[in-house]
Amino acid sequence: MATIGKSIDEAAAWLQTDLVAIPTETVYGLAANAFSEKLVLQIFEVKNRPSFDPLIVHVAQLDRISEICSSFPEPLKTLADAIWPGPLTLLLPKRKNVPDLVTSGLNTVGVRIPSHPLTQRLLNALDFPLAAPSANPFGYISPTKAEHVQQQLGDKIPYILDGGNCEVGIESTIVGMEGNYICVYRLGGLSIKELESLVGKVKVKVMGGSNPQAPGMLDVHYAPRKPLFVFDHIDEGLTKFGHKKIAVVFAQKPDVVPEFAQVFWLSETSNTRKMAQQLFHILRQADQSDADLIITEYAPNEGLGLAINDRLKRASVK
Ligand code: TXA
Ligand code: MG
Repeated sequence: MATIGKSIDEAAAWLQTDLVAIPTETVYGLAANAFSEKLVLQIFEVKNRPSFDPLIVHVAQLDRISEICSSFPEPLKTLADAIWPGPLTLLLPKRKNVPDLVTSGLNTVGVRIPSHPLTQRLLNALDFPLAAPSANPFGYISPTKAEHVQQQLGDKIPYILDGGNCEVGIESTIVGMEGNYICVYRLGGLSIKELESLVGKVKVKVMGGSNPQAPGMLDVHYAPRKPLFVFDHIDEGLTKFGHKKIAVVFAQKPDVVPEFAQVFWLSETSNTRKMAQQLFHILRQADQSDADLIITEYAPNEGLGLAINDRLKRASVK
C-alpha cells in the first residue's frame, strides 16, 4: 500500500521517478511530471483512463505559465489574476514541450494553480509542473480525503501526500475562449455567478461526450458502483423505491429523518458550499453501505448547486 504522509521532501523525491497523489482545494490529484511521457502514460494506466481524455497541468505561480503556454488571452488573464490560486482551470494555447499525451492531441492545455498550501509548497520545490487528473479510477467518484485515494489506488502508487479534507470538494471550473467569448466547459468549484461578476456574461457549454472541446466530460461520470437515482425531492424516490433496501442522500438535513433506510445528508442547512464539500464523501459512504441502491435529490439550483446537480445527473442511472 501507499505511504500516507505530509512530507514535501518525500513527495518531491518520489515524483522524480513515479506518481504521487496530491491534495488540492478541490479534490485529490494523481500527479506526475508533466514533461515525462513515460510517467504521464502511467497516470492513464493507473486510472484506467482512455487516452482521449486530456489532463490538467498544475503550476506553482503565474510566472511559470509561459513555460507551457504560448499565449494568455486577456479575458482569461483577468480571471487568473482574480482567482488563482483557486478552483479554476483555464484552457490556454499549448507550447510544444507539453507532450501530446497530456492534451490528447489538442492544441490547448488545461492549466491551474491550486491553492492547497502543501501542494503549493510541493510545486515550488519542483522544477517541473504536475499533470494531475482526479485520483480515482476512471468514471468513479473523485477523492476528497487521503483515505479515499488509499482505498482505490493505494496498491498502485508509492506515496499519498495527506492534506486533510478538500475544502471545496468538487473539481475546478473549466474555462476557455471561443472567438471573443468566454466559455465554461465544466461547472465546478468556482460558480458561474462569481465568474460573471469578474468578466460579464459567459457561455456555458457543458454538454456531454459529444462536446468536441471537452472529450473527457462524458455523460456517465462521478458514478458510484451501486445504481444511483436522483429526484427533485427525496419523497418521489421514497414512493418509487421505498420498499427496497436503499441508501438515502438528502441535500439538506430533513426535519424528520426516515427510520427505515440508511440516511445521509450533504449539509445541515441549504448552504451549497457545504453540500459540495460533502458530496463525494457522502456518495462514497452510501456506496459502501449495504443498500442495494442509492436515491438522492438535487441541490438548490444556485451557487455551487449547479455543479453538484451536473455531477448527480452524470452519476445517475439514465
Ligand atoms: O479540480 C480539478 O480540476 C482536479 C484537481 C486534481 O486539479 N482535476 C481534475 O482532473 O478534475 P480530471 O482529469 O479528473 O478532469 C479534467 C477535465 C477532463 O474532463 C478533461 O477532458 C478536461 O479537464 N480537459 C483537460 N484538458 C483539456 C483541454 N485541453 N481541452 C478540453 N478539456 C480539457
Ligand atoms: Mg476526474
